[in-house]
This record gives sequence, structure tokens and C-alpha cells, in this order.
Amino acid sequence: MDKNMQDELKKEAAKVAADKVQAGSVLGVGTGSTVKFFIDWLGERKEKEGLTLKHIVTTSSRSKKQLESYGFKVDELADVDEVDLTVDGADRVDSQLNGIKGGGAALTLEKNVAVNSKKNIWIVDESKVVDHLSGFKLPVEVLPVSCMQVKKRLEKEGLNPEFRMDGNKKLTTHYGNYILDLNISPIPVPNGLADYLDHTVGVVEHGLFLGICDEVIVAKSNGTIQEIKR
Ligand code: 5RP
Repeated sequence: MDKNMQDELKKEAAKVAADKVQAGSVLGVGTGSTVKFFIDWLGERKEKEGLTLKHIVTTSSRSKKQLESYGFKVDELADVDEVDLTVDGADRVDSQLNGIKGGGAALTLEKNVAVNSKKNIWIVDESKVVDHLSGFKLPVEVLPVSCMQVKKRLEKEGLNPEFRMDGNKKLTTHYGNYILDLNISPIPVPNGLADYLDHTVGVVEHGLFLGICDEVIVAKSNGTIQEIKR
């Protein structure tokens, strides 16, 4: 799919989600190019109908800056009891609404906001929808202090880790950690891999988001929108 077409679809999915946001609610806002459109639509609602929210939390400084540019005040997750709805993008989503996230390296905060939300909606174009999680390297955030040992361990497991780079340096996340992208496709047993990574010392978080998403809004190239609910 060409990038212009993909952007159009991202924009459409983002609009459907923005229209679902209830005034006065606590909103979580994710990260990425699809979410960027979502924030633009929120900005439009603020301008046209004076949309206000009780609290907004977000998962990256990029999204925070954009929200603030529309006059929204952004709070820290720690200052909010519970989030009513979080809207985020995804890199892949399967038929069970499990997903791979972290293409933008914001997975740790994304998962923290998501699991503290009553409802999670993902907005995607149709190229992200797959039968089984595949076609995208799985991001794993690791502590710098043990990154080489974790990499070796993951290599031994046949998970083909490679550091995500930023030029000729290892990319650092918001929390000062590194990302190892695992080159495995398809992921044969997502739950098993998630469990293994959850128990690997030095792994801060991983991009398998299993049983978290409640609804996916998919924009399709035939002009339709599909809303898939858990
Ligand atoms: C960032 C993410 C994003 O939601 C994911 O990468 C999708 O991004 P985009 O909307 O740009 O395709 O998980 O960590």
C-alpha cells in the first residue's frame, strides 16, 4: 500500500475514534503517526465544540507536545486514578485482538497506560491486520546495564535480537533504556514468549500486548471502516 493511501486510512480510523471520546472523561492518548491524526481530530473537536476532558495522559513527549499545542493540559499517569478510554495505534493486530506495539519505542509507557484503562481502542489501517502475529519485529526494551547478556540469552533461544539504532548509536527510550528488536515471524506462541520475556531479568517491557485491546478500528482501502470488538 502506498504511503499516501496508508495515511488517508490512518486519518479515517483516527476520526472514528476521536468521535467516540466523551467530554469530561479521562483520556489516554498513545503514540505514532495514526495517533498524530487522532490528536488533530481532538484539536478540531476542541475548536468546533469546545471539547474538554477531565484529564489527559499520554505515552510520549511527542504526543504531549502536540496535545498541548491544541491547548489540552496533559497530566502524568501517576496523578490519575484510572483512565476511561485509551486510544493508540498498533504495529500488528491479530484476529484475537492481540497485538505487537513499540514501533515508536514507547511500549513501556503505552502498556502502563493501557493496563490502567477501562477501555482500549486501537486505530489501524488494514495493512496491520493479520491472522497470526507476524511481519513486524517484536520490540523488547532492555536495561543498558544487562543489555549484552540479555541479547546473548535471546540469541541462544533463536529469537534473533538486534539493537535498534539511532544513526550509529543504540537508540535510547524515554527511560534511557535500549530496544532489542526480535526478528521472528510469525510468533508461534505469543503467550509463551510473553511469559518468557516477562521473567527475563533485564527486560523492562516487551511489545506483545495480549488481551489488552477491547476494540480495533480498521480503515480499509475499499473506503469502509471495520470495528472489531473483543
Ligand atoms: C509506538 C507504537 C505505535 O502505536 C505503533 O508503532 C503504530 O505506529 P503508527 O501509527 O505510526 O503506524 O506502538 O510505540
